[in-house]
Amino acid sequence: MLIKRASDIASSEITPENLYHNRREFIKTASAVLGIAAAGAIVPACTNSAVSGMTQSKPKGKYDTDEKPTPYEDVTHYNNYYEFGIDKADPAANSGKFKPTPWTVSVEGMVKKPASYSLDDLLKGLTPEERVYRMRCVEAWSMVIPWTGVPLAALIARLEPTPAAKYVEFKTIMRPDEMPGQRPSVFGSGLHWPYTEGLRMDEAMNPLALLVTGVYGKPALAQNGAPIRLVTPWKYGFKGVKSIVKIRFTDKQPLTAWNEAAPQEYGFFANVNPQVDHPRWSQASERRIGEFYKRRTLMFNGYADQVAQMYSGMDLRKSY
Ligand code: MTE
Repeated sequence: MLIKRASDIASSEITPENLYHNRREFIKTASAVLGIAAAGAIVPACTNSAVSGMTQSKPKGKYDTDEKPTPYEDVTHYNNYYEFGIDKADPAANSGKFKPTPWTVSVEGMVKKPASYSLDDLLKGLTPEERVYRMRCVEAWSMVIPWTGVPLAALIARLEPTPAAKYVEFKTIMRPDEMPGQRPSVFGSGLHWPYTEGLRMDEAMNPLALLVTGVYGKPALAQNGAPIRLVTPWKYGFKGVKSIVKIRFTDKQPLTAWNEAAPQEYGFFANVNPQVDHPRWSQASERRIGEFYKRRTLMFNGYADQVAQMYSGMDLRKSY
């Protein structure tokens, strides 16, 4: 696995991040001056410094981390998306044929508004938000990623699951013509397609759960799960199912892709937990992409205040 040191990162790779910060500052400044609210940004009460060009401290949104975002180049070229290959560089290299439009999502199961929705219809009227989340992969690397998306809870409220629904299941599209990893015998990831994930209903309704459509203020690229993927920052990255075409409400815990492939290694909950090791490696520390030294992993990836209550009374060694 290639880990880049800060000193190894070419300045060309850092540029998009600078552009991102400039864009964010521009949105805030323009919003403050024009008196309009920017999505996901708190407009500072005092606009004088922005107007006079002095440095303005970056306001933190309700869910944002203020840790330094991982460069765009890494966010889009160091990926896990096994439908495009098993190496981190494969998703960017092998997703050129993938078409994220037009896109249809089928809503099924225990829900009052089941239907096949175009992506526009599914998300129509829901307010997009920009949130900077720290992400932790089960392989012990981590990133900080500025996502754009809609809260999953807002979509679920619109779809109206019935009281019997206890879980929500998500499935990735099947397109072997565009996704070489889905073709039999190309490379053995051990996963069964379509990639499936699921959340308990209270987890799905947690305000941190985001249905992501964009990265760094731009539409998400195929390798990041275009046109729509899940992000749950208190869980290991594999819960973040990409390119979703099916959302099903059910009373049974869904069989998820990694849980099916290796149940002793990957559980349904997959909460970031430095106290419970993966059978083959420790989960106590992580290496932030772009940094040399490891850092201690935080319980629930640092989001304990927002999520720990959902698991009170559960044995997290058994429910991993
Ligand atoms: N979704 C699908 N359909 N296929 C995959 O292989 N990999 C998962 C998750 N979602 C995966 C997927 C894993 S293991 C991780 S760590 C995250 O996507 C990585 O998301 P990123 O590449 O956008 O950082």
